[in-house]
Amino acid sequence: MGEQMDTGPQPLREEEAEKERRTRAMYSELRYPSLDPAHKASYERHRYLVYSLMGIDPATFFQGKTILDGGCGTGEETMFLASLKPERVIGIDTSDGSLESARQRAEEAGIDNVEFRHASVLDDSVFPDGTFDYVSSLGCIHHTPRMRQAFENLCRMVKPDGYLCTFLYNSYGHCLYNLECDWLDRRAGDDIDERMRLARRYLDWRRGTRFRREGIPSSWDARLYDKYAVLYRDSLSLKQLLSWYDEQGMDPVGSFPMRLGDMVAAYRAHSGDQVHGIRGLVARALAPIASKPSGPRHWRWSRRVWMQALLLVLGLYDYGGAFRVLAHKRVES
Ligand SMILES: C[S@@+](CC[C@H](N)C(=O)[O-])C[C@H]1O[C@@H](n2cnc3c(N)ncnc32)[C@H](O)[C@@H]1O
Repeated sequence: MGEQMDTGPQPLREEEAEKERRTRAMYSELRYPSLDPAHKASYERHRYLVYSLMGIDPATFFQGKTILDGGCGTGEETMFLASLKPERVIGIDTSDGSLESARQRAEEAGIDNVEFRHASVLDDSVFPDGTFDYVSSLGCIHHTPRMRQAFENLCRMVKPDGYLCTFLYNSYGHCLYNLECDWLDRRAGDDIDERMRLARRYLDWRRGTRFRREGIPSSWDARLYDKYAVLYRDSLSLKQLLSWYDEQGMDPVGSFPMRLGDMVAAYRAHSGDQVHGIRGLVARALAPIASKPSGPRHWRWSRRVWMQALLLVLGLYDYGGAFRVLAHKRVES
């Protein structure tokens, strides 16, 4: 979080550029998240719910909008947004491998209002100010050497009266993970192969069990790389993020998760009625407290405190370590 004091875009130092190049090369091989298209219905249910809990109706909100997905990876979210009748969606990423997968999937799905381009979220020369009605960047800028600079660049590209949605690591929700990475930093530094060797040997306590993202089985190996081999991983608290938004002239509209019930609702949404055994029992027992989309929700300190406390606890299990915040750009008079 040392980048908070930056006053404007600055070129990367030589060692930062080298580290970024290696992170990029890793993601190119990784093609993250490569969700299985067979589970599309499950992740669409989950996404509908998350947007609804953030206070918007995804079925109408994106219609006619121009959208940027910054750090789109293999493009699942980008294509979901493209299916909601926007005018156009552009996904950018620095991983050629992921972009290739994304283009191929879009072509196979016959989606023609989406385009994938090689570009960095740090590059302020790609799109002019105020190009997009809606900018989304999920799980990307905390993996860049300049999270704050990337954030400001995303804000810059949003039109006045437009929106930015970010999904970022929460400093309070990643305590165990942060300790693991500190240990890897000390033992292996920037040596990606050595980090993975140590991670597989000492940290992969699930030993290759299937990883589920938004309820979709995904490659455990890709997950391990994304977790332990990425050389940049920044995080910030919700309070810090809200002040960043405010400084950029943006007001928060909603966040996910905001309360425990949000997590329960999301779990139920992506699992559908297919959860059996102990997980099914827990999901059914918690059903009464699952949040229901009910229009805009007010920000209350008590909720934030509980949510932070919950994320701190869940962070021990590496769950709930990141949050989405959707914000609206003020129209300056
Ligand atoms: C954890 S993945 C998230 C992918 C996708 N947004 C998702 O939610 O599944 C992070 C992505 O950010 C990309 N990335 C890293 N640095 C970037 C940069 N400077 N500009 C654009 N994309 C970048 C990586 O290549 C990778 O695809």
